[in-house]
Amino acid sequence: MKNLLYYGDNLEVLRKYIKDETVDLCYIDPPFNSKRNYNQIYNNIGGEDRAQAQAFIDTWVWDTRAAEGFSEILANDIGRFTTTAVDLIKGLATVLKQGSLLAYLVSMTLRLTEIHRILKPTGSFYLHCDPTASHYLKIILDTIFVTSGGEFRNEIIWHYLKWSVGQRQFVRNHDVIFFYSKSDSPNRTFNILFVERSPATVKRFGNAKIVSSFDEKGQRKPSQTEGESEGVAMDDVWDISRVPPIKQLYPTEKPSALLERIIRASTNEGDVVLDAYCGCGTTIVSAESLKRQWIGIDITYQSISLILRRLEAQYGKEILSNITLNGIPQDMASARALALKQDDRLRKEFEKWAVLTYTNNRAIINDKKGGDKGIDGTAYFLTGKSDNAKIVFQVKSGNVGRGDIAKLNNDRLREKAELAIFLTLQPPTQGMKDEANAVGVYEHSLMACSYPRVQLITISDMIEQQKRLAIPTSLEVLKKAQSAALENVQSQMLTE
Ligand SMILES: C[S@@+](CC[C@H](N)C(=O)[O-])C[C@H]1O[C@@H](n2cnc3c(N)ncnc32)[C@H](O)[C@@H]1O
Repeated sequence: MKNLLYYGDNLEVLRKYIKDETVDLCYIDPPFNSKRNYNQIYNNIGGEDRAQAQAFIDTWVWDTRAAEGFSEILANDIGRFTTTAVDLIKGLATVLKQGSLLAYLVSMTLRLTEIHRILKPTGSFYLHCDPTASHYLKIILDTIFVTSGGEFRNEIIWHYLKWSVGQRQFVRNHDVIFFYSKSDSPNRTFNILFVERSPATVKRFGNAKIVSSFDEKGQRKPSQTEGESEGVAMDDVWDISRVPPIKQLYPTEKPSALLERIIRASTNEGDVVLDAYCGCGTTIVSAESLKRQWIGIDITYQSISLILRRLEAQYGKEILSNITLNGIPQDMASARALALKQDDRLRKEFEKWAVLTYTNNRAIINDKKGGDKGIDGTAYFLTGKSDNAKIVFQVKSGNVGRGDIAKLNNDRLREKAELAIFLTLQPPTQGMKDEANAVGVYEHSLMACSYPRVQLITISDMIEQQKRLAIPTSLEVLKKAQSAALENVQSQMLTE
């Protein structure tokens, strides 16, 4: 099986594409935004501190989607939901009322039900959250897993250090990861992981006289040799450093060490691992490095683009041929469909997809809400040893005319960019072409060629002719220079 990367809403992807009982391990880390005031979320207050509540409310609102999900659970027409899950959501609606918290829990119930369906009977599930929502999620998980023969296995505490000061409370320095199994099958994979005994444990209990260890099924067996030991079986409190903000590829990135533990414990080589909220792909990269098959889903194109770039950087271009990409426009009809999507969560997705695809994932997306001054993305190219020049991108899916090009050129000048690229779904008019030609060309001395300062590219050029940014971006110029230098050194070493 090829590995699978889906661009889309995980509920739709799970329902449409992922068959029953096909996944060995699922890990999810859904967005929650716990930085806001808990009191506001719980009590559905949005008034006093709107700025703080906004981030959460942006993600979880009681809107038509929430209302539809809620009705779907209550109606339970095709018996998708367990009766306990239906009763729980009904009860929670009475207590919490229809606000952001209930919207979040409805969204999770819909998705957790699908995740339960796609897990093999021997499968394992890990849900990553934090103490602000964990108590609600655990009862939802119980109604989905435990009432269908599954079991709650662990509440893993991921402890990390953050150098902040709690405001008249202790510093919150842990996340919660719930581990459930779909059944109590004796064939369930659980590889005991061992950790070295800490000096404190050795002091208290003496130097590792482990009298028993575990076989691959987790059964205790008498130890062959006494004295020496591999360490102690890992417990449910994990001390792992967070990815430092400066090294983060993504604001909510989780450390690979965390994902590797989960994957090693609950799967063997060749097993299928799924992450339905895959972000910058930590689960995927860890699964790949541990030789597991994987499936990733994310609703933003930046995430998909970042994962492709991360895999390519780590494993080389060849890895891309072993991935099936789904949901990414491959023809004009699906590009148009993406441009026309009304879903608020998919705001600017068409623009992101166009810029990242045209630049082979080498542009930076302008994510600022509103006031983006017409620029959807930026990329850089090297003009000399250490000098960069800027390219700005603008994407249009509606009607376009000469004025758009004049405006783009003004934006280019204001942004001090040498080049501007206009990506358009509609074909450009002759007037637009004339306007672009009138701006002239940029002489690239390093590449010894010239480029039109304002370029018009149609989405059909990108899809049907596979047209991509021809000018090497800084990243590639740098890589080329580095590998040329390395080759130089290597050939010198060979001849010496
Ligand atoms: C907290 S991040 C996950 C970070 C990830 N664990 C990592 O290490 O990079 C949550 C991700 O879920 C994605 N997401 C949110 N709602 C989604 C949905 N309905 N379907 C698929 N992905 C979704 C977001 O785009 C975001 O990338």
